[in-house]
Amino acid sequence: MNIEEKIIKLKNEKNAVILAHNYQIVPIQDLADFRGDSLQLSIQAKKSQAPLIVFCGVRFMAETAAILNPEAKVILPVEDAGCPLADMINVEQLREFKAHHPEAKVVCYINSSAAVKAESDVCCTSANAVQIINSFPEDETILFVPDKNLGSWVAKKSGRKVIVWDGYCPVHQWGFTRRAYEHLKNLYPDYKMIAHPECDEDIIEVADEVLSTSGMERYVKEHDRLIIATDSSFTDYMQHLYPQKKLISLNTRAFCNNMRKTNLKNLLNALEKEETIVEVPPEISEKALSALNKMLELSH
Ligand code: 13P
Ligand code: SF4
Repeated sequence: MNIEEKIIKLKNEKNAVILAHNYQIVPIQDLADFRGDSLQLSIQAKKSQAPLIVFCGVRFMAETAAILNPEAKVILPVEDAGCPLADMINVEQLREFKAHHPEAKVVCYINSSAAVKAESDVCCTSANAVQIINSFPEDETILFVPDKNLGSWVAKKSGRKVIVWDGYCPVHQWGFTRRAYEHLKNLYPDYKMIAHPECDEDIIEVADEVLSTSGMERYVKEHDRLIIATDSSFTDYMQHLYPQKKLISLNTRAFCNNMRKTNLKNLLNALEKEETIVEVPPEISEKALSALNKMLELSH
């Protein structure tokens, strides 16, 4: 039996479900029961009936699954698969930010800790951020944490007053430059570029579309020649699904180290040992659930 077969056998014996984010390596995405963006995986986690959810992604995603589905045991195959962006704001910093703007509402990107979610009015992902901001009355001031790039893009799209926290994803902030874009655009002038909203505004300004990873996947289905500005594992997986398409990563070396920590070996080990269990203390979980549920209600 090869390692994939062992994983599937054990998964079936334990009646587990494997969720994988779009940035996971190709073999992991290939054997997952569901793969998708943060929003799609949150929805899957919430509606899953499985007693065991194996989350191939990063900690905030597994934490979100545990909050949305308290019946299930949620495991993260690599204990230290974190998200530097989520770590750019903690609950004390958020409280201070709120104290400076007591009239404002807080929208928190799902790439945040459970404690930060618990202090927020509503969560959002890159797929529904504009929709969530637009759900507030037009004159409402919004504090957006922790991603400044997503927050600024949403402010522009919605025309709302948004005060952004100064956080960023190192992969998207530094991985893609205007210079690299211009170089590729010179070589491939008929290619369109799609970018994730976590990218710096230098890239956002020249992108043909700014999309979450699920939005990117829809765009890839409809276009044959693309430059893609997001984690290069996403481009690898799209190329694997659509080998006939011409897909170029704006930077093949721009990928999330934390997402790449999960591999078939540690996934098998995690399933065998049912480790690492991700749990959220009930007093945090209850409040974070309210912010997540509000997001899900507004996302329909
Ligand atoms: P998506 O929700 O678009 O998949 O993005 C998640 C993420 O972590 C981007 O860096
Ligand atoms: Fe976090 Fe960036 Fe990795 Fe996404 S790509 S999980 S935002 S560090």
